[in-house]
Amino acid sequence: MKRSSIGVIAALILALAAASLAYAEGNARKGKFLYRQKCRTCHGTTASDLSPSSKTQADWKKTFAKWEGVKCVKEWKAVSEADRADIFAYLHDYAKDSPTPAKCN
Ligand code: HEC
Repeated sequence: MKRSSIGVIAALILALAAASLAYAEGNARKGKFLYRQKCRTCHGTTASDLSPSSKTQADWKKTFAKWEGVKCVKEWKAVSEADRADIFAYLHDYAKDSPTPAKCN
């Protein structure tokens, strides 16, 4: 095999690995959109004003590990597992103790 084709194959494998990793870890950009659409409808009006910076990364991990115990579990059940992973990525990546804390507005 020529050296250049080995390079192309290696790049392909790397790109695929990166894509699957991003999916498994959730996409924070998508999560921001989903959080606005599916959670901010209440949080900030009829429910607590929850933003990524409301909690630490450890708190968000705990919350998402035991989400069946959250008061609005019905709303969480309406969200797909992939969407939930994206929402988690958003909340976790912009948490209070993250390098980039964010407040919803
Ligand atoms: C229909 C309204 C509604 C929607 C939609 C909703 N929630 Fe809630 N949520 C509530 C209420 C009411 C509570 C309990 C009281 C409070 O915290 O304000 C609550 C509680 C919570 C809590 C626990 C409170 C805390 O501070 O830890 C978390 C976390 C939470 N919701 C996250 C979410 C996420 C993530 C979504 C989107 C998938 C969502 N909620 C969608 C109404 C809602």
